[in-house]
Amino acid sequence: MSNVYGVVLAGGIGSRMGNVEKPKQFLELGGKPIIIHTIEKFVIHPGVDEVLVLSPKAWVSYTQDIIRKFIPDTKRIQVLAGGATRNETIMNAVRYIEEKGALDDETIIVTHDSVRPFLTHRILEENIQAARRYGACDTVIPATDTIVESRDSAQITNIPNRKFMYQGQTPQSFRAKQLKLLYEELDGEEKEILTDACKIMVLKGVHVHLVRGEVSNIKITYPYDITVAKALLGMDLEEK
Ligand code: CTP
Repeated sequence: MSNVYGVVLAGGIGSRMGNVEKPKQFLELGGKPIIIHTIEKFVIHPGVDEVLVLSPKAWVSYTQDIIRKFIPDTKRIQVLAGGATRNETIMNAVRYIEEKGALDDETIIVTHDSVRPFLTHRILEENIQAARRYGACDTVIPATDTIVESRDSAQITNIPNRKFMYQGQTPQSFRAKQLKLLYEELDGEEKEILTDACKIMVLKGVHVHLVRGEVSNIKITYPYDITVAKALLGMDLEEK
């Protein structure tokens, strides 16, 4: 039975990308859609048993079409509808696994933003290992800029010591069954606030291990990021 699932989160509409003709995960980067670059990273990794791709309901068949067009072997890829929030999208993946009778204590989900196409083999491998060993992990890089906190957007309320600050990336990987149980304990308001899946675990006192990310593991959010992504394309981003 497969027990490591790549979960490619593509349920968003990319509002910060501005007025583009399709959600940003479907925009082209070097001849193929961004989401295809991302899916490929999972498909070629031998430790991933199945890849679940969750896109907005109205884009599910489009997602299936481009996967068939660009990826030769689609046997281990399943496209599903995402949810109203990022966490709901993750839960749709977990429910799918559960409904096919494959959710057990050891089932691992490696959840990853579809708009982070520069995921490396090393990051993916370390996520799988850390999720198996510790039950949950987050991918981070040390904060480069000083983090300034302001509760009212007008004055500084705190400047935490940068040495303890990290920037969160993805993947975030979990024992799927435990994440589902903790998520279901939240009330409606908590679900609204806890937009980060790792935060659910942290607030429940669960150990979340850190995996070292890469500066190049960028998230495409604004039009500017497309320019950066084009510059990164074709670079060898794996460490030797
Ligand atoms: N995501 C998702 N389901 C949602 C919302 C977001 O799977 N209901 C995914 C996005 O598709 C994206 C990732 O989560 O790959 C990171 O989110 P973000 O960059 O915020 O994407 P969007 O919500 O699409 O962007 P925006 O906030 O600009 O609308």
